[in-house]
Amino acid sequence: MKTPNASLLSLTISLLFLISWATSAHTHENFLQCLSLQFPNSNSISKVIYTRYNSSYESVLVSAIRLEQFFPPAKVPRPLVIVTPLLESHIQAAINCSKQHGMQLRVRSGGHDYEGLSYVSYQQAPFVMLDLVNFQSITIDVENSTAWVQAGATIGQLYYTIAKKSPTLGFSAGVCPTVGVGGHFSGGGYGMMSRNYGIAADNIIDARLIDVNGRILDRKSMGEDLFWAIRGGGATSFGVVIAWHIKLLPVPETVTVFTVNRTLEQNATKIVHRWQSIAEKIDEKLLLRLFLTRANSSQHGKETVQASFVTLYLGGVDTLLPLMQQSFPELGLVRSDCIEMSWIESILYFSGYSGEPLEILLNRTSSSYTTYFKGKSDYVTEPISETGLESIWKRVLEYPEEVTEMELSPYGGRLSEVSATATPFPHRAGTLYIIHYGVVWNEAGENALNRNRRAIRRFYRFMTPYVTKNPRSAYLNYRDLDIGVNNKGNTSYEQASIWGLKYYGINFERLVHVKTRVDPGNFFRNEQSIPPL
Ligand SMILES: Cc1cc2nc3c(=O)[nH]c(=O)nc-3n(C[C@H](O)[C@H](O)[C@H](O)COP(=O)(O)OP(=O)(O)OC[C@H]3O[C@@H](n4cnc5c(N)ncnc54)[C@H](O)[C@@H]3O)c2cc1C
Ligand SMILES: *[C@@H]1O[C@H](CO)[C@@H](O)[C@H](O)[C@H]1NC(C)=O
Ligand SMILES: *[C@@H]1O[C@H](CO)[C@@H](O)[C@H](O)[C@H]1NC(C)=O
Ligand SMILES: *[C@@H]1O[C@H](CO)[C@@H](O)[C@H](O)[C@H]1NC(C)=O
Ligand SMILES: *[C@@H]1O[C@H](CO)[C@@H](O)[C@H](O)[C@H]1NC(C)=O
Ligand SMILES: *[C@@H]1O[C@H](CO)[C@@H](O)[C@H](O)[C@H]1NC(C)=O
Ligand SMILES: *[C@@H]1O[C@H](CO)[C@@H](O)[C@H](O)[C@H]1NC(C)=O
Ligand SMILES: *[C@@H]1O[C@H](CO)[C@@H](O)[C@H](O)[C@H]1NC(C)=O
Ligand SMILES: *[C@@H]1O[C@H](CO)[C@@H](O)[C@H](O)[C@H]1NC(C)=O
Repeated sequence: MKTPNASLLSLTISLLFLISWATSAHTHENFLQCLSLQFPNSNSISKVIYTRYNSSYESVLVSAIRLEQFFPPAKVPRPLVIVTPLLESHIQAAINCSKQHGMQLRVRSGGHDYEGLSYVSYQQAPFVMLDLVNFQSITIDVENSTAWVQAGATIGQLYYTIAKKSPTLGFSAGVCPTVGVGGHFSGGGYGMMSRNYGIAADNIIDARLIDVNGRILDRKSMGEDLFWAIRGGGATSFGVVIAWHIKLLPVPETVTVFTVNRTLEQNATKIVHRWQSIAEKIDEKLLLRLFLTRANSSQHGKETVQASFVTLYLGGVDTLLPLMQQSFPELGLVRSDCIEMSWIESILYFSGYSGEPLEILLNRTSSSYTTYFKGKSDYVTEPISETGLESIWKRVLEYPEEVTEMELSPYGGRLSEVSATATPFPHRAGTLYIIHYGVVWNEAGENALNRNRRAIRRFYRFMTPYVTKNPRSAYLNYRDLDIGVNNKGNTSYEQASIWGLKYYGINFERLVHVKTRVDPGNFFRNEQSIPPL
């Protein structure tokens, strides 16, 4: 290795923006040397460092890429160096050395970021990707109903491990088993039990985090402000989460699931209209998620809109049926629609793996049916009128390319009992539901990418009258670089407050204050990180 270049060591952050690929090669040599110097008596770290000269660089890089548009040969900026730490001290060293040598750091847990920000950086500085794939351990404490889960574990691994220890404990987090707990919990974490138990972040009781100074902190040593910030504010602005300590949640031995489909010809408009006001108020053990898609109407032989009500009830069918009859008779639920099962089987059901062995939840690449995808989100606080719904159906049928799927997930219950400032996640009382829009395509290349991005943006503009305003709120975990981002890494306060208010509402200011205290030099940053003052 070359000797460190003293002038490089003193480069300022602003100069770094001007670094070319040629000089960044020096930077990364210096970075690598710094790493090896931190482990003088052992070569353990060299086994977990990948540069482009290592033949396995690409396989490590793509191992947790979920969206087709970020796979090679797509021209997106790649990490100069990948580190897959085995020890906490490897993470400390990666932070210390990145800081010293002007490298940016990206952290990847499950790799499900909608914009790939855990392994792509559009900011003009060379970057290191820290892949937490070796931090997957999960320790369940049944007696105390708690667990420690390392950041690189997936929610599927967590659900599986809990269920193996107890048939009556579970956790409240997302549906897709390959999502990583590192990003997911720190950005919120909504799932089929959220009306009963809130988001994942609501059930975190402690955490281990490495800060910008390379210090390992827990809840006590980081303080309540920082502990607050990483539960919904996106930990990526504040440090590297190594593990979460979570409260496990009671689940009944038998739960009930159903999927009921209704097309426009089957009164979907009236039923969806009604759903908007009941889904948020109904018994909190009941979560009726709603998928809207185009479909062919069997009776009428023409295209229609289909509403699929995909539901979890934390109880048996005998209590569910009278409850539905009383609160939502319009849906016309009958006993034969319902399936009783264990909570862990419901995890398979909602992720499309019914009938598979439970071990599929341990497979980190099981949803490797990756597609090209762009997602966006909106919140709704006032029911959309029947006329409004009809305009939406018309748009969906006339411009099928604009939105492939809409998923409406009800709030209320526990979600609205938690105050809007208890965590940085502000979408609490008053929120009826969230809309997730997705456009999926199969054609490779920039043209298709740009065409589809433009299409979903048009649909998003079309939806303006029906959703929240000032701010038009959005869910951090459905990250969307369309909202107020300047790819030059301009995270000025003015710029950041555009998306900051959408994601965090009144909590944005407090996040900025925490950031200013714990990382005033803005080392932990990405295109949508919290700026220091
Ligand atoms: C197929 C699919 C299904 C999904 N389903 C749901 C769902 O049901 N409910 C829901 O709420 N969301 C869902 N999401 C969104 C998901 O919650 C977010 O994409 C989440 O951020 C993913 O976390 P990750 O660790 O897998 O992603 P990553 O890409 O690894 O990380 C996401 C962000 O968090 C940062 N980060 C990751 N790990 C750490 C760490 N240890 N310390 C600090 N920062 C870190 C990254 O740098 C990045 O900015 C889904 C996403 C996909 C692609
Ligand atoms: C990558 O290559 C470097 C230099 O040849 C080597 O030191 C390192 O051990 C390699 N990394 C891995 C993970 O094999
Ligand atoms: C990183 O820096 C911190 C604080 O300066 C120090 O305590 C720690 O030992 C360093 N760790 C490594 C592995 O470099
Ligand atoms: C439960 O928690 C208490 C208090 O933190 C602790 O002393 C005890 O060891 C825990 N139980 C188990 C089984 O770990
Ligand atoms: C509902 O519609 C979805 C999507 O078209 C389909 O996959 C599913 O089988 C249908 N379910 C029922 C119970 O009809
Ligand atoms: C639709 O609603 C009308 C009036 O409320 C009712 O008569 C009819 O049976 C319903 N159709 C279906 C398919 O449920
Ligand atoms: C409906 O059927 C037509 C003709 O078979 C087909 O081209 C179209 O893709 C179908 N639409 C949907 C949403 O399945
Ligand atoms: C995980 O799932 C993928 C896709 O279904 C499959 O190809 C792979 O073999 C599975 N891996 C393991 C370890 O079972
Ligand atoms: C950053 O964005 C803000 C708000 O859009 C703008 O006022 C400022 O000039 C930008 N700064 C740079 C360096 O581009």
